[in-house]
Amino acid sequence: MAFSHQKIETRNWLMIVLVTLVVSIGGLVEIVPLFFQRSTTEPAPGVENYGVLELAGRDIYVREGCYACHSQMIRSLRSETLRYGPYSVAGEFVYDHPFQWGSKRTGPDLARVGGRYSDEWHREHLIAPRNLVVQSNMPAYPWLAEAKLDPDGMVKRMRALQAIGLPYTDEEIAAAPEVVAGKTELDAVVAYLQSLGVNHQ
Ligand code: HEC
Repeated sequence: MAFSHQKIETRNWLMIVLVTLVVSIGGLVEIVPLFFQRSTTEPAPGVENYGVLELAGRDIYVREGCYACHSQMIRSLRSETLRYGPYSVAGEFVYDHPFQWGSKRTGPDLARVGGRYSDEWHREHLIAPRNLVVQSNMPAYPWLAEAKLDPDGMVKRMRALQAIGLPYTDEEIAAAPEVVAGKTELDAVVAYLQSLGVNHQ
C-alpha cells in the first residue's frame, strides 16, 4: 500500500490525472443534483418572471455595476432577517440570468427593496442620492433620466433569454418594443427595483 502511494506521488502526470479525476467526481456529485432539485430549479411561491420594463431595468443595473456595492442575497442570520426580511431561497433566483447576489455591501442589500420606497423617492435618489440621504456615498446616475430605452434591443435580449428557457411567449416579445418605447432608463431601473422581493411569500 505504502509503495503504490509513493508511486503516485513521485509521478507528476499520474498525480495530475488522478487529482483531476477525484475533483471532477466530487464536483459532479455536488453540482449535478442541483440541476434537478425542485427547490433550486422551480420558482419559489409567488415569484414571477420579470416583465419587459423590469427586465430592461435589470440590464441597466448590471451595466452600471450596482452589484459592486449592493448584494441581493439575505443570509439566514438573525441580524439580516431583522433588517431586510425573510432570508433568500434558491427558488427566488430562477429567472435571474445571471443572478445578482453580489459579494460586497457598501450599500444595503436590495433583495427585498421593492415597495419600501415610492417611485419618486427612487428617481430622486438615483439622480442625486445626497438630496435624500445626506451622508450617502452612492454615486449619482443623472444620465438615466435622459437616456431612452432601445425598443429593438429588447427583442433580441428577450429572444436570448427565451432560448435558455425563460418563459417569455412570442407575443410578449413581439409587444416588447411598444412597452419600452419612449421610456427612460430611469423608468426601467425604478420598475426593476420596485419588483425586487415583492412577490416572495
Ligand atoms: C459606490 C457604491 C454604490 C454603488 C455603485 C451604488 N450604490 Fe446604491 N447605495 C449605496 C449606499 C452607501 C447606500 C446607502 C445610502 C443611500 O441610501 O444613499 C445605497 C442605497 C441604495 C438604495 C436604497 C436602499 C435602502 O434599502 O435604503 C437603493 C435602492 C440603491 N442604492 C440602488 C442603487 C442602484 C440601482 C445602483 C446602480 C445604478 C446603485 N445603488 C449603485 C452605494 C452604492
